[in-house]
Amino acid sequence: MDKITVKIAKTPLDIKKAYGVRELVFMEEQGVSREEEMDEFDGAATHIIAYYDDEVAGCARIRFLGNKSKLERIAVLLRFRKKGIGKKIVDFLVAYSKEKGATEAVMHAQIYANDFYVKCGFKPRGEEFMEANIRHVEMYMEL
Ligand SMILES: CC(C)(COP(=O)(O)OP(=O)(O)OC[C@H]1O[C@@H](n2cnc3c(N)ncnc32)[C@H](O)[C@@H]1OP(=O)(O)O)[C@@H](O)C(=O)NCCC(=O)NCCS
Repeated sequence: MDKITVKIAKTPLDIKKAYGVRELVFMEEQGVSREEEMDEFDGAATHIIAYYDDEVAGCARIRFLGNKSKLERIAVLLRFRKKGIGKKIVDFLVAYSKEKGATEAVMHAQIYANDFYVKCGFKPRGEEFMEANIRHVEMYMEL
């Protein structure tokens, strides 16, 4: 049985749950400040929530900029990692990007997670840069 479900966070409660994952993963675990984490793009973004059985396990958000989709805030709670949830979230975002007519999916990936994104079909592009005091590189997938 497939225990992992990924869906669009439609209700305010769903969105609150997605923000809860970001608080635990990015703010508490990685030390990102609330100001940087909860930025001005949250209002217009589409939020995604992942469940493992009926427990909230992960989240992401996606924005569309021209012909590109931008995948952001991809996070899986520590105790649910390495179960395939992150990949399911990325697969969902890629499928959603295609559905919306984007021709390229892009993200700013933390360097340590490069191999994860490569396994999801993304390629690095350009130089490393700092974001929220964490080393990143742009990664992309042609759709
Ligand atoms: C990165 C993250 C989302 C991965 O989620 P996950 O649910 O553990 O990933 P999955 O279980 O779907 O992994 C899919 C594949 O990638 C691999 N993988 C996962 N994390 C990896 C990592 N950090 N480095 C290398 N490979 C990794 C898995 O082993 C698996 O490989 P397999 O298919 O050969 O078995 C998760 O570690 C996380 O939330 N990290 C903290 C937040 C973060 O840094 N997000 C990225 C912001 S850019």
